[in-house]
Amino acid sequence: METVVSGIRSTGNLHLGNYFGAIKNFLRMQDENKCYFFVADYHSLTTHPTPENLMNGVRQVIIEYLACGLDPEKCTLYVQSDVPQVTELYLLLNMNAYVGELERCTSFKEKIRKHPENINAGLLTYPTLMAADILLHRANKVPVGKDQEQHLEMTRTFGNRFNRMYNTEYFAEPTAFNFGTQLVKVPGLDGSGKMGKSEGEGNAIFLNDIEQVITKKIMRAVTDSGPTEPNQPKPEAIQNIFTIMKLVSKADTLEHFENAYNNCTIRYGDMKKQLAQDMNHFVAPFRERIWELQSNNAYIRSVIKMGKEKALESATKTVKEVREIVGFREI
Ligand code: ADP
Ligand code: TRP
Repeated sequence: METVVSGIRSTGNLHLGNYFGAIKNFLRMQDENKCYFFVADYHSLTTHPTPENLMNGVRQVIIEYLACGLDPEKCTLYVQSDVPQVTELYLLLNMNAYVGELERCTSFKEKIRKHPENINAGLLTYPTLMAADILLHRANKVPVGKDQEQHLEMTRTFGNRFNRMYNTEYFAEPTAFNFGTQLVKVPGLDGSGKMGKSEGEGNAIFLNDIEQVITKKIMRAVTDSGPTEPNQPKPEAIQNIFTIMKLVSKADTLEHFENAYNNCTIRYGDMKKQLAQDMNHFVAPFRERIWELQSNNAYIRSVIKMGKEKALESATKTVKEVREIVGFREI
């Protein structure tokens, strides 16, 4: 049995990238492993939400986790800030996290490029807080999408450094995990890059999008004027539509459009219409469950309470042992 940890920031609704990159693996892992899945609300503070937005964001991610099929009886489903022990571990790890290595982190450099007006220390130390999330439960498997690979590498660095420094084998080496052999990157609808909630309007399909919105987003997805010679490699924007189609359409539908592309008879309008139909079919059950759960406050509160209790148990134990190792002992 593995110990599994993963989280999603509470900065917006869940999208197809979150589902295929992370949650689909959560669902398979929760049956056989000790799983801790959480809403990363401390992490979301880097972008300065209002108190209302913070609270609503947390509630929404819990609802959407449940709508995806996470079972709070099987896994520990909790809110990061309900377990403040993580902040102590974060502080301790920060003492051995070097500014140079944090500055070299790709996600930090991205943030500097996109939001030069808000480069706060929380962003710089984002990977240490993420390492603390994982090491807090001494996890060895972390189901995440491809974009998180470097953060996992840093988690291993911080855990190993702690072990070396205190001459212990306390922390296991956590690895990014996907049931397929490869980590997943779901592309966005805007022609390049990954699907993400902060990538701009129309780039992501959310699990609670209504039918008309889904259709509109897909019909507007970036394409080109079509292939002019048979069997050519696909430009990125076109490959992206095929990649998304592979996730939600039947194999023979995909094959039909692959053949049409290869013999230059493809009409992207037709392909998008088909994709919109299949996407709506895929998203509808999630959307319905999300809407159902919205009104069930008592249930949501009970899920959060149960998760908090279970997560605190593991976190308290780890932090107590870590304090002992570091030298906070009775004198
Ligand atoms: P976002 O990138 O939309 O802000 P998060 O950063 O909170 O979402 O990501 C939560 C989880 O979802 C992580 O495991 C991340 O790797 C995964 N994820 C997010 N976007 C994608 C994507 N486009 N493809 C694959 N996995 C993704
Ligand atoms: N950094 C992750 C993301 O942006 C979210 C996250 C925070 C996380 N802590 C984690 C993922 C711990 C896995 C494990 O997607």
